[in-house]
Formats: sequence, C-alpha cells, structure tokens
Amino acid sequence: MIQLKDVSYVRLGSPDLESAENFATACLGLQIAERGKKDLYLRSDARAHTLCYSEGDPSDQTVGFEVEDEASLQEAASTLESLGHAVHAGSAHEAEQRKVRAFIGFRDPTGNHIELVVRPERSGRRYFASRDAGITGFSHIGLNSIDPARDERFWTQVCNARVSDRIGDIPLMRVNAIHHTIALVRAPKAGIQHINHQVENSDDVLRSYYFLSERRVLYFKGPDGMIFEYSVGVDEIEDEATHRPRQFGFEPTSFCMWGSKPAGMALPNN
Ligand SMILES: [Fe+2]
Repeated sequence: MIQLKDVSYVRLGSPDLESAENFATACLGLQIAERGKKDLYLRSDARAHTLCYSEGDPSDQTVGFEVEDEASLQEAASTLESLGHAVHAGSAHEAEQRKVRAFIGFRDPTGNHIELVVRPERSGRRYFASRDAGITGFSHIGLNSIDPARDERFWTQVCNARVSDRIGDIPLMRVNAIHHTIALVRAPKAGIQHINHQVENSDDVLRSYYFLSERRVLYFKGPDGMIFEYSVGVDEIEDEATHRPRQFGFEPTSFCMWGSKPAGMALPNN
C-alpha cells in the first residue's frame, strides 16, 4: 500500500505566464517564490512552492503528493507497475524543477497526472503575499473522475486514502488527520476540478467575497479556467480508527455553510 503523507504541489501548464502571475499574486494572494525561464513558482505557506505555472498546454495538470522516503517511492513504483500503471521515474533535472529529492509520475485510473515526491523543499523564509488574502496554506484539490466509485477504490485501496465524508457520490478523502486532501468529482475527462487554499478566518473569506464580487465567489476562476477556492476551518479527524464517513446530499449547503455553489458543477437550485 502506498502511504501518502500530504499533498505537496500543483503544476499547471499555461500559455501566458504573465497573466498567470498577475492572477496568482494580485488576486489569489500567493507569493512569487521564483521565476524560472519557463516556470513560475508560487508559495502559500512554509513550503518552497505549492503551485507552479509552467509554460505549456493548460491541459497539462499535475498534482504532487509526498511520500516518506526513497524506499517508499521505489515500493510505490513497483505497486503501480504491478497494477498496470506506466510509471515515469523522474530525472535529476525534473526533480530539481519540482524542488524535490526524487519523484515518480503516473496516471490514476481516470488519467489524472499524479506525482509522488520525496523530501519537497521547505523555505526558511516566511510566506507573505502582495494581497493579504489571509491564506494559511495550500490544502486540497478536487480531481476529475470519470468513475468516482472506481477511482475511490484506487485512492483508498492502493494509496491508503480514507473517505471522511461523501457529498452525493463525491468522496472527500484524507491522507492524514486533515478532513480531506482529495475530492473526486464526476467529469467526462481527467483534470483538476479545483484548488483549495485555507484562509485564517471567516472575515478573510468575506473580504475575498467583496474583492472577488464580480466573479463566482469562494470558488472563482483563474487563468485557463482553473477553479480556485478559499475556505476556513477544515476539520481534523480525531479518531482514525472509529471515524465513519457521513453522507451529505448533493446540494449547495453541503459544500459551504453559506450555500455558495461550486463553479463549474451542476447543482439543484435551492
Ligand atoms: Fe474544496
């Protein structure tokens, strides 16, 4: 069984790094960690980077998850290969691009590009942003799934994710004590459905509501149509052994206590 420790980063292709930079700094509230030739590294917490825009096709979307060490990485590669997943062993140059010691790449059953990484760099400098959105860190991602039941089995049975709750047929899955790190959202093709950053308190969400009032709120669109989310106060699962997933209806209040609707998802009106 592969043991994921945490989500580490998202890499997004973008044809226009300048627009991506404007959005990420002035709107979303991230800090520029580094401008490479073809890569823009952004921070949202103590990590060296949590989002990287890389010059290229917007359909190139990758999520990186941390595993314990290089032995775990080798084991993960064997497990994935034995299940028929093609595994790419990251080169030294590619690892350097990702600011990790080593990594492998593969696709989940829907075709989402996933990387498993060892020793992602942290930064000695504190995160601060040009726009004070109150961000405390990169927290979770929604992943498209052609078949959520099948993909839930992959994430839980192969990668040791655990279902914390379900909204309709969307499983919210944890890989550590945080309530959810991965949500699987039914969609016709692979892709990242949304990217979440936690903010410090409800006032930060409201301040961003007014700041982003011309857009879809709480969930809002960035470059290339990617959906970003701010949320506050994610639960922790206190007792790993006894927690049972709760089932919530597929309706707006299940996503947000204020009833905000996730952009890009068809929901009943109420
Ligand atoms: Fe979310």
